[in-house]
Amino acid sequence: MKIYIPHDTSSLSLGADEVLAAITAKYPDIEIIRNGSRGLYWLESLIEVETDKGRVGYGPVSIDDIPSLFEAGFPEGGSMHPLYLGKVEELEAFKRQNRLTFANCGVSDALSTEDYKFEALEKALKLSPQDIVNAVKDSGLRGRGGAAFPTGIKWQTVLDTKSEKKYIVCNADEGDSGTFADRMIMEGDPYCLIEGMMIAARAVEASQGYIYLRSEYPNTAKILQQAIDNAYEAGHLGKGFDLEIRMGAGSYICGEETALLESLEGKRGMIRYRPPLPAIEGLFGKPTALNNVITLASIPFILAQGAKAYQNHGAGKSKGTLTIQLCGNVKYPGLYEMDFGVSLKELLYGIGGGTATGRPIKTVQCGGPLGAYLHESQFDTPMTYEDFAKAGAMLGHGGVVVFDDSVDMAQQARYAMEFCSIESCGKCTPCRIGSTRGVEVIDKIISNVERDQNLELLEDLCEVMTDGSLCAMGGLTPAPVLSALKYFPEDFGLLPKKKAA
Ligand SMILES: Cc1cc2nc3c(=O)[nH]c(=O)nc-3n(C[C@H](O)[C@H](O)[C@H](O)COP(=O)(O)O)c2cc1C
Repeated sequence: MKIYIPHDTSSLSLGADEVLAAITAKYPDIEIIRNGSRGLYWLESLIEVETDKGRVGYGPVSIDDIPSLFEAGFPEGGSMHPLYLGKVEELEAFKRQNRLTFANCGVSDALSTEDYKFEALEKALKLSPQDIVNAVKDSGLRGRGGAAFPTGIKWQTVLDTKSEKKYIVCNADEGDSGTFADRMIMEGDPYCLIEGMMIAARAVEASQGYIYLRSEYPNTAKILQQAIDNAYEAGHLGKGFDLEIRMGAGSYICGEETALLESLEGKRGMIRYRPPLPAIEGLFGKPTALNNVITLASIPFILAQGAKAYQNHGAGKSKGTLTIQLCGNVKYPGLYEMDFGVSLKELLYGIGGGTATGRPIKTVQCGGPLGAYLHESQFDTPMTYEDFAKAGAMLGHGGVVVFDDSVDMAQQARYAMEFCSIESCGKCTPCRIGSTRGVEVIDKIISNVERDQNLELLEDLCEVMTDGSLCAMGGLTPAPVLSALKYFPEDFGLLPKKKAA
């Protein structure tokens, strides 16, 4: 018999280690597997028991539930206990997903090099670099860090740029509000990322890789380092490709690729002018393939199952699956890997179950702190890059933060400007100064000081930030501000307030 107890950060914060201690105190000989989260976060800690008859889950289990679980016959029996879930794969929230990238996350021992087969790498080693790049191009994979740039085209540029040294850099800064997919896969299936990076290295002929990991993820750092050490020991790493972790220092802008490269080089995280592109002159001036965690973790599936198998998922030019991170004020928060094209409405109500407070959903913010707020009238929008762009929004890294009708959108707009003023690297004036002026102007609008003039000023300021900022930090901050103003004018005092339900 085996018991799976997640070592995912969220499970640990809910007491997974205490649950483990209570189980092993009573059954010291039982085999314990530390897996990742299955992504159904309202059920954490979700522990699973595997016997000859199959594998079943219990959740959400806290230390207080242990006595009643034992009384009900757990771990062998226990199916009459209210926390008994049956097979996790048969839960509705799981059945509606298409897990390609997260297929293995939470399923087995996250750190076992015996369980993880590196089969995609084996295939890749039989292909030429150009064949690998072609497969990635054919798959239609676009970068999952936010900009959605075609990965195969980026890799082609790195492959075509001749240099005695090239790098693979994994962007694991995961700074967007409401996102946790990178963390989840690094803790739950770290070899998938490592394998993706090794395949990338072969494709672009790089010999050194770095994972730039946000300092707010100490548990991830521990697991990932162990995985890297194990991969060296098992002989996967160290044969022409070396991999190291570098920790960030808590700066949002260091998720922007050129600021990240500065930080990796030991400098202050300020963005670089482009061109040159990092693919041509990146880390230490050398050609660099810089990709998000989920982009790289999508590569093993593409190589193992073929570009077509990946391309068959999704809608239009948004190929494959989107790893949606649903959170905020929602009943069933979690990671849902679904084909592009699912509507927001289906996600929010069909899967998310509406708000946790039971109040109506007023808005959602997709794509992190620089993403627009969507109004209820836009909830039919299919989740594809193209449809979201048409709606004036973005999918970004797939974070969806839900708000009920108690949210004050003028304060949210103010917060967007304030966030930018705190996190701006300071290199360009529209972002550095514009965001500070933006907070002041919004404050004046809220308190009805020369409201009409200040509204005009705010629109002007947003135009300058959009057109004049050096990167998307200042360039996109107007999106949440202007969407809040457009769809929720009553919160700025421009219309009478609607009665709250
Ligand atoms: C302000 C800002 C913050 C960003 N933060 C992240 C981040 O935390 N993680 C990430 O992967 N990409 C982030 N990006 C996007 C990166 O600049 C870059 O497009 C991405 O890492 C490239 O990888 P991809 O092509 O695989 O998406 C950010 C961009 C901006 C402008």
